[in-house]
Amino acid sequence: MTRHDPTPRPLGSGFTASNTADDVLRDVDLTGANALVTGGYSGLGLETTLALVRAGARVFVPARRPAVAARALRDVPAARVLPLDLADLGTVPTFADEVLRSVPVLDIVIAGAGVMACPETRVGPGWEAHFAINHLGHFALVNHLASGLTSRSRVVSVSSSGHFLSDLRWDDPHFRGDYDGWLAYAQSKTANALFALHLDALGAETGPRAYAVHPGSILTPLQRHVPREEWADLGWVRPDGSPSEGFKSPAQGAATAVWAATSPLLADRGGAYCQDCDVAEWATTDDMLVGGVKPWARDVVSAARLWELSAELTGLDEFSSVESRGTATRGPGR
Ligand SMILES: NC(=O)c1ccc[n+]([C@@H]2O[C@H](COP(=O)([O-])OP(=O)(O)OC[C@H]3O[C@@H](n4cnc5c(N)ncnc54)[C@H](OP(=O)(O)O)[C@@H]3O)[C@@H](O)[C@H]2O)c1
Repeated sequence: MTRHDPTPRPLGSGFTASNTADDVLRDVDLTGANALVTGGYSGLGLETTLALVRAGARVFVPARRPAVAARALRDVPAARVLPLDLADLGTVPTFADEVLRSVPVLDIVIAGAGVMACPETRVGPGWEAHFAINHLGHFALVNHLASGLTSRSRVVSVSSSGHFLSDLRWDDPHFRGDYDGWLAYAQSKTANALFALHLDALGAETGPRAYAVHPGSILTPLQRHVPREEWADLGWVRPDGSPSEGFKSPAQGAATAVWAATSPLLADRGGAYCQDCDVAEWATTDDMLVGGVKPWARDVVSAARLWELSAELTGLDEFSSVESRGTATRGPGR
């Protein structure tokens, strides 16, 4: 039986699916705030970075391809690009140490980098790439940044209604059996939601608040592994190639993450799963465009179990109490 927190309810934020990140931040002054946006140089992440900078924040942008990131952000001096490959946990400590040398506290971390529906790819010690990049890479990054995450910090984990397709595959998270790119993406997006849930619980006393968000459906480079001929059948585009009804622009797609990162309404709602700039309700349909959240992405027992598995795999656990840390220690995670 799935165990989860009480029924999630929208808070009446006053924003809707059509609002952009700039709309959400219009009356928010982030002068002096330090933020970090993984994937902050493409798609939704780029829009997120730009909106946070316009609101006054300084933004660290970790980049798998630093030259590409530097080009995308060349006119944005408040955004600082540093190399990081979430598929290679050996790059995480160097990146995190440089960030923490520069700023004592990170006010906002938006974990938005991700890959979707890739061909089967193995990284690190043979980990499945979606699970490794979308989840374990962010798990390692946030753990390495732990000393800069205080009770005034917020971590936003960018999940997806893609989580509808799969719970955690506890018996085979790395797809040692048959591989399916969509299920691999779905599992990683459930993991993103559970990560926020447990990080928030662990941070209850002195650590960060954490939230998961579904940004909506937006055409970005994320779809690069899906052949264009399939886009119409998947309902993503109209016959003329324009985005289907219900799709958002990248600026609208960035809105829920910045809302979760800044809204006072969420101050005592840590762990919430959000969409369309509000807390999402239980999913009542399997239509991902409608969204909502499935019970397995809100299961506190699964969230704790995933944390334990991730700590074991990466060798990192900077938020659990000393007694519950088990054998996990700060380490390279290889
Ligand atoms: N677009 C949608 O409809 C949609 C819907 C639901 C959820 N989401 C979620 O939103 C997030 C952002 O997606 P997007 O649409 O903005 O996609 P995107 O434009 O493809 O951006 C993804 C970013 O992640 C980075 N990244 C990929 N692998 C990485 C690695 N190993 N190390 C470091 N960075 C890496 C990419 O860098 P490179 O460009 O260098 O590869 C890119 O900057 C994802 O988590 C996605 O699951 C998107």
